Amino acid sequence: MSEIKFKKNLLLGVASAATQIEGGDENNSWFDWFLQGKIKDGSNPARANDHYRRWRDDFRLMRQMGIQVYRFGVEWSRIEPENGVFDQSVLNHYRDMCLELKKLDIKPLLTLHHFTNPLWFEKMGAFSSPDSVAIFLRFVEKVVIHLGDLVSEFITINEPNVYAVFGYLYGEWPPGQKSLSVTLNVMSNLASCHIKAYRLIHELREKAGFADSKVSFAHHMRVFAPAGPRNPWHRFWARMLSLSFQDWLAKACLTGVFPFPLRNSEKMPPGHYYDFLAINYYTRSTVRGPSDGVREGAPVNDLGWEIYPQGLIECAGQLAKTYQKPIYITENGTCDHEDRFRSRYVSEHLQAICQSDLPIERYYHWCFCDNFEWLEGESARFGLVHIDFETQERSIKRSGEFYSRVIREGGISDELADAYCRQEYQQNRSQQ
Ligand code: BGC
Repeated sequence: MSEIKFKKNLLLGVASAATQIEGGDENNSWFDWFLQGKIKDGSNPARANDHYRRWRDDFRLMRQMGIQVYRFGVEWSRIEPENGVFDQSVLNHYRDMCLELKKLDIKPLLTLHHFTNPLWFEKMGAFSSPDSVAIFLRFVEKVVIHLGDLVSEFITINEPNVYAVFGYLYGEWPPGQKSLSVTLNVMSNLASCHIKAYRLIHELREKAGFADSKVSFAHHMRVFAPAGPRNPWHRFWARMLSLSFQDWLAKACLTGVFPFPLRNSEKMPPGHYYDFLAINYYTRSTVRGPSDGVREGAPVNDLGWEIYPQGLIECAGQLAKTYQKPIYITENGTCDHEDRFRSRYVSEHLQAICQSDLPIERYYHWCFCDNFEWLEGESARFGLVHIDFETQERSIKRSGEFYSRVIREGGISDELADAYCRQEYQQNRSQQ
């Protein structure tokens, strides 16, 4: 590792999602998934981090750690518990949170949809329904009218590709369907939702006198590398997976041009529907056929995902080649139960950012506190802060201490790297 110094315009923070941290809500699709016994360790998303009640303490802790920017989400099922019925007290709750962030000088980036739906919306078919776009827009309007004077940066939808593929193709997430045509329909509708929300947020905030809106969708990207770099079959599938999982959807969301097999059923006009590129990056897939895998001997995290820091630059570079705007890394982090190698992971990804000449302006570490990790429940720990889920006690991990020093020192000195980042990674031992 060589010493790194951050550019002045790189801001560092943390990211989270409402359902993964708030607790207390039983009106959403993931609580229902839990009731159906689908969470691997049986843990209940209505527990999570109890952040809905403890948010002031969590914000204080963020401040103490020097967090500069915070990406978080609102829970739609709380805001609109029934179709067309909005709960003002919940909107006020999020308003109080935004006011507090302002006081603490932590800049918010607000996510409107992060995997979870209100139950009534889920029951009507969620984003596979032709009515979903208008219904989602009505919710977006409420939130922006209520918080738009305090928040200027928005993520409309988190990872539409992951949401669609896991829920509608693999059937592992709610609603558990396995249909390629519905998956494509959901992806198409989500792209329309993004575009319409992009336009609406700009319009509403401009009307209210704010000209500084920045809106995008958070794109989950990974590197798809052919297992045999010269093997035509591997190369074909690596390309196909990249196109179908991430490239077509990016084009539809960012430009309104829907490549086949996506469908522009809402007749969105071509345009520029992004003010920055938002990338969630975790790993590289090694491809030998239509499903992805992990290279033998690759360094991996506790979920078996390859650790490949340069991939962040490869993904960001791939997107930036076509769509030129500042880049925000809206998620990057790793599952490391013992917090053995997280500091090294963070420092290597930050080093890749600093050594590239891409216009990366934000790095949001995923995540602040260990939380409810979807199918894995409470058993997969991604946080800089440890949580005892029973007592809800928070304690800053060594990686959290490292990240906090990195922010304060504006870079990573040799001394800091020596003290925190010398851990060995574990290796993938399975043959593909
Ligand atoms: C999601 C997060 C999730 C993280 C780690 C991302 O794809 O946006 O909600 O916790 O990955 O699995």
